[in-house]
Amino acid sequence: MVTMPNPESLASLAVHAGREDLADLGVHTMPIDLSTTNPLPTIEAGRDAYDNFAAGHPRTDGMTSVYRRAWNPTVARFEEALAALETFQPERPPVHAEAVAFASGMAAITAVILSRVAAGRPHVVAVRPLYGGTDALLASGLLGSEVSFVEPHAVADAITDRTGLIVLETPSNPTLELRDIADIVRQAGDVPVMVDNTFATPVLQRPLLLGAGFVVHSATKYIGGHGDAMGGVVVTSPEHATELRPIRTVTGGVLDPWSAYLLHRGLATLPLRVHAQQATASQLAAWLREQPAVERVFYPGLPGSDPEGLLGRQMAGPGAMVGFELAGGFGSAERVCGALRLITHAVSLGGVESLIEHPAALTHRVVAEEAQPGAGVLRVSVGLESVDDLITDLGKALAHA
Ligand SMILES: Cc1ncc(COP(=O)(O)O)c(C=O)c1O
Repeated sequence: MVTMPNPESLASLAVHAGREDLADLGVHTMPIDLSTTNPLPTIEAGRDAYDNFAAGHPRTDGMTSVYRRAWNPTVARFEEALAALETFQPERPPVHAEAVAFASGMAAITAVILSRVAAGRPHVVAVRPLYGGTDALLASGLLGSEVSFVEPHAVADAITDRTGLIVLETPSNPTLELRDIADIVRQAGDVPVMVDNTFATPVLQRPLLLGAGFVVHSATKYIGGHGDAMGGVVVTSPEHATELRPIRTVTGGVLDPWSAYLLHRGLATLPLRVHAQQATASQLAAWLREQPAVERVFYPGLPGSDPEGLLGRQMAGPGAMVGFELAGGFGSAERVCGALRLITHAVSLGGVESLIEHPAALTHRVVAEEAQPGAGVLRVSVGLESVDDLITDLGKALAHA
C-alpha cells in the first residue's frame, strides 16, 4: 500500500489512515472482501504465498492471497490505520510499527503471551488491576505462562532470566489508576512491556513512543465505538509482528472483514468521540464527588488522583471512564443499577451510549479474591448523551442507594 505523508494532526490521520489505495481502486470507502479463499494463478504462486505467511510476513504487492485466515485486505487496511495512529508523532521521524488484528481483545492478548512462551520466556510480571479476563488468563497459566503480580515500583525486582513480558493497563480497569509507562519500561530493561491501551486509545496516549514493546486493544470498545463490532489488535515492532502472525494463522483468532470494516470506520470519529466523552466524564466525575451516597470517585482528572503528574505528560487527558464506590455496598449498587433509565446496565465500554456495570460481580468476577474491586464499586463508560441528562438519570438512581 502507498504510505500517506505524515499529517499534522491525529484527527486528519484518523480520517485518512489505511485508505491510501482507495483512489486507485476507484472507490470512496473501504471495500469489504468476504472471500475465504482466492483463485491461484499457479501452484507455485500459491506455494510461495503459503511460505511467506508461514514465515509471518504480510502479503506484499504482486503476491497472491491464499486463504482468509492468513491474510485479508479489509483487515490489512484496518491494521495499517491503527499502526499509524499508535505511532503518530508530528514533526518527529516516523516510528516503524505494525499492527496485527484479532477476533477480540482476548485473542490479541493470548497471541502476545503465546509468542513469549514460544520464545522460551514464559514468565510474566503483571501489575494489577487488570481487566478480569486478562488477570484470570495469566493466573490460570493456561497458555504455559507463569505470573508474578507485583506493585508498579517492584517490576525490576520480579524479573528473572525466564521473564518474557511485563503487563500493565493505564488507566486500569476498573479503578482508573495511572501507571508510569516510561518508568516501568526502564525497570523492564530488555523485557518487552505490553500496555493495554483500551481505555486511553491512541487519541490520549501512545505507549510505543514511550518504549512499550506491545500495545494491545480491545477494539470492541472505543475503536469501534458503537457496540456492534468485536475485535482486538496488537501494535508492535515488525520483528514481534512477524512472530504474532503465524500464531494468529494457526490458532485461527482472525478478525472478520465485516468487523474490520466497522472498526476502521470507527477510527474516523475516534478523536471526536473521545474528546466529547472525556469532557462529559470530567463533569460527571466532579458531580459524583458531591453526592452523599458516593464514598469515593475513581477518575484520573480529579484533584489528588494523579500523584505522579502523568496527565499531560504521558496521557493527554483523563479519559471517559469513571468509577465510583457507594457507601451502601452491593445492595446500593443493585438498587442504583435497577433505577437507571438512560444509562444502560451492561458490561463493555467505549461506545456512544453510556453503560454502567458492577465489576466485582461481572467483568472482574473471575479475578482472585484479594484483587477484587469493592462490592460497592460501579464503573461507568460515559457516552455521547448530554451531561445534564446523565446527571438527572444518575441523580434519580442515587436517591435509591
Ligand atoms: C481493558 C480491556 N482489555 C481487554 C479486554 C478484552 O477484550 P475483548 O472483550 O474484545 O476480548 C477488555 C474487555 O472488556 C478490556 O476492558
